[in-house]
Amino acid sequence: MRQFNEDTLTNEVVARLKKTKNPRLREIMTSLVKHVHAFAREVHLTEEEWFEGIKFLTSVGQKCDGKRQEFILLSDVLGLSMMVVALNHKTQAGATEATVLGPFFAHGAKEFGYGADLREGATMKGEDVWVSGRVLSVDGKPISNAALDIWQAKADGIYDLQTEGEFELRGRVKANAKGEYAFASYKPNFYSIPIDGPVGDMVRATTNNHMRPAHMHAIVSAPGYQQVITHVFVEGDPHLDGDAVYAVKNSLIGKYKRVNNPEQAKKRGLPNPFLTLTWDFRLAADKAGAKKARKKIAASDAVAT
Ligand code: BEZ
Ligand code: FE
Repeated sequence: MRQFNEDTLTNEVVARLKKTKNPRLREIMTSLVKHVHAFAREVHLTEEEWFEGIKFLTSVGQKCDGKRQEFILLSDVLGLSMMVVALNHKTQAGATEATVLGPFFAHGAKEFGYGADLREGATMKGEDVWVSGRVLSVDGKPISNAALDIWQAKADGIYDLQTEGEFELRGRVKANAKGEYAFASYKPNFYSIPIDGPVGDMVRATTNNHMRPAHMHAIVSAPGYQQVITHVFVEGDPHLDGDAVYAVKNSLIGKYKRVNNPEQAKKRGLPNPFLTLTWDFRLAADKAGAKKARKKIAASDAVAT
C-alpha cells in the first residue's frame, strides 16, 4: 500500500499495528494513533507547529534528571495524572481517596517511629504542628504495622529535592501496633509548581494557574491492604478551588487547630502554643485480603446458621 492521504493514512497505521503480539500494547497504540491523527486533523496542525511541539517535548525530556521530573509535571498540569488516578482508584466507600504522586517523592527517606520529629535538620522554620491519627481499615479497625511516607514543601514552598542538601520535612513514619502514628512537623504553605522549565512556559502561555493549595503528601501502606497515595490539604487555603494539578478532594481537607497547653507542648517537644492536625487514614483490603475477609464472613455466616 502507498499513496496515503489524510483520510487513508490512519487506517494503514492501525492495520500495521495488528501484528503487535502483546494485545494490551496493540490496543493502546491503536487508540493513541487514532487520537493523535484526529487531533492533527482537527486543528489542521502545520509543520511549524508540530516542530514546535517536538522541540517542547525534547526540552521536557532534557529538563529531567535524578531530581527533576518534568514529564510527571507535564502529566500533572494536563490533568492526565488525575485522570489515571480517577480511572484506577474508584475508592472503596470509606477508604482514603487517592491523588497525584507529584514529582517530589523520593525513596530512601529516614525511618521514624511514633512521635517522630520531621523538623530535624530543617533549614527553615514554620508553624509547629503535631500531626497524629490512626491507620484504619474501612470498617474502622486499627491496622498494625502500617508505614506512612510523608513529604511536604518547606515554608518557602520549595521541596528539599529542588535544592542541594539533605532530605528535609520528609520521612517514613511507622505506626504502632494499635495503628497510631504521630509526628511533629511544620504547617504546609501553598506554593507554585516549578515554572522555570518548559512546562512552566506552557502554563504561562495558556493559563495563570500554577499554584497548589497547601498540603502534606502521604503514601500509606500496610501488609494486606491497598496502598494509598494521597494528600492532606489545609482547610481555608485560598487555592483549594484552583489547584494547578486538579488533586483536591473534599474528603482530604484537614483542620489545623491551635492548642495553648504548655504541658502538652513540652511533652511533644514543641513551643507553646502549637497547632494540631488529627487525621485518620483508611485503607481498603487488597484483593487477596478482601477475598480472605469474604471467606471469613462466609464461614461465620455458616456457623451462625
Ligand atoms: C506536589 O505536590 O509536590 C506537586 C504535584 C504536581 C506537580 C508539582 C508539584
Ligand atoms: Fe506537594
